[in-house]
Amino acid sequence: MSTLRRPKLKIGKVLLTKEQIAERIEELGIRISKDYADNPPIMVSVLKGGFIFLADLVRAIDIPIEIDFMEVSSYGNGTVSSGVVRILEDLSLNIEERHILIVEDIIDTGHTLRYIIDNLETRHPKSVKICTLLDRRGRREVEIPLDYVGFVVPDKFVIGYGLDLAQKYRNLPYIGIIEEEEIP
Ligand code: IMP
Ligand code: MG
Repeated sequence: MSTLRRPKLKIGKVLLTKEQIAERIEELGIRISKDYADNPPIMVSVLKGGFIFLADLVRAIDIPIEIDFMEVSSYGNGTVSSGVVRILEDLSLNIEERHILIVEDIIDTGHTLRYIIDNLETRHPKSVKICTLLDRRGRREVEIPLDYVGFVVPDKFVIGYGLDLAQKYRNLPYIGIIEEEEIP
């Protein structure tokens, strides 16, 4: 037996355990597999926050989906979306006449996703739907129809499972809430 011990990175209060996340992703995977059985989508992960969710979600799906990535950034390193979005890295696939399922980590004000949807629509996909792990709907400023939601979360800053605080803590296996006074 290995004597290696897992190093502990612990910050914030646990909101969702890795078991809760895994269980919900299984359910989402089953629904997506059924809904898209006849039309497997291109699943577009929004980097960087969406990378862990995408990796787990695609393995819960049993139809031949394709994946692609888009990296976007709101200006600044703050904890509040500015509404101004930059595309840092674009898709590599042609999405014309394809079904697109955008995979996001969290929808907060909705500005980032609104920008992405509008941008993708100009390329004439057959459909664009949204799958988000977290929905902080209490802070929405732009209305966006969400097709698959993992969890609705309270109005607190969250980290882990892909989500960062100034680029750190993406590697936590759980999703934690971080209070203002805890920010290192
Ligand atoms: P929105 O444009 O306000 O909806 O913000 C969307 C993006 O901001 C998300 O895709 C995340 O990358 C980031 N974000 C929003 N809230 C949080 C949070 O609580 N923790 C980490 N990142 C967040
Ligand atoms: Mg994101």
